[in-house]
Amino acid sequence: MTIQTNLTGLDLRAEIDRLRKERNAVILAHYYQKPEIQDLADFVGDSLDLSRKAQATDADVIAFCGVRFMAETAKILSPDKIVVLPDMAAGCSLEDSCPPEQFAEFRAQHPDHIALTYINCSTEVKALSDIIVTSSSAEQILAQIDPAQKIIFGPDRNLGGYLARKTGRDMLLWPGVCIVHEAFSETELLKLRTQHPDAPIAAHPECPAVILDHADYVGSTRGILEFARTVTSDTLIVATEPHIIHQMQKAMPDKTFIGAPGADGNCNCNICPYMALNTMEKLYLALRDLTPRVEIEEGLRLQAKKSLDAMLTLASGTVGKGDLGPRP
Ligand code: 13P
Ligand code: SF4
Repeated sequence: MTIQTNLTGLDLRAEIDRLRKERNAVILAHYYQKPEIQDLADFVGDSLDLSRKAQATDADVIAFCGVRFMAETAKILSPDKIVVLPDMAAGCSLEDSCPPEQFAEFRAQHPDHIALTYINCSTEVKALSDIIVTSSSAEQILAQIDPAQKIIFGPDRNLGGYLARKTGRDMLLWPGVCIVHEAFSETELLKLRTQHPDAPIAAHPECPAVILDHADYVGSTRGILEFARTVTSDTLIVATEPHIIHQMQKAMPDKTFIGAPGADGNCNCNICPYMALNTMEKLYLALRDLTPRVEIEEGLRLQAKKSLDAMLTLASGTVGKGDLGPRP
């Protein structure tokens, strides 16, 4: 059989469908993926739901359309599956902000603290952590930790700061940020709000406090989507990566969803450059060649799995509830 290297003229959607069946593969996609990828995925979700799907699937292959830490999470939870990520360079600025050696040192300086760690981190940092959280499970998990227990929260200082303000828990924060959510402009957001005075603002907790302070709802991608279904206003301002608007528009075609602006007044600077690396072409090649594959050394995998298992146990029941909810 000759392997086609020139993809011009190929019906990628049909070919991906054919390979999905041939390989007994499941395509999992995050809400920040391009609309064409979201539309052909078997499941589109937030980090917590994607982890659960990866753990529960009986497919032989997981084609993960998201970023590397998400595909690694799938491999940690489903080690017998082949996990492919269309572009292995799809990283995350939060992961980059937290090198494992420095995190290990930080932990060693605070031996009486437990490490509650956002899932947006490397497998090595998961292995150094006690409990992983996602934005949809963080508050529910935090509520189950003894109030006297001291906590390190990393790598997202914005999510950590939001949780600290909302729950009153004093946590030591690692100074990492998401470059995408940091790029929203308060000045431009306020200008937009004057143009749409009745439109609520929904924001992801990775946004800095100056943005969250204007939000009517703060939550994970799934939480924001659910909030959009409940608002009575016909317009909603969405302060997270704008590709999620695709799902909103599909579910609510009569409503208007406006991506919150960056300093240039539009939402294009808030497209996640890592998520954008995945394309239909690369997904097709990943399914065809079963590469790039996620591989994790077994000792490291087992160590990282402990903190992920802790999350899945403590977050059980977080289905459409337990999200961060209305801003305090
Ligand atoms: P969610 O868990 O809310 O989908 O967030 C993932 C993420 O990377 C947001 O930037
Ligand atoms: Fe990472 Fe931010 Fe992209 Fe999410 S949006 S994957 S946190 S860089």
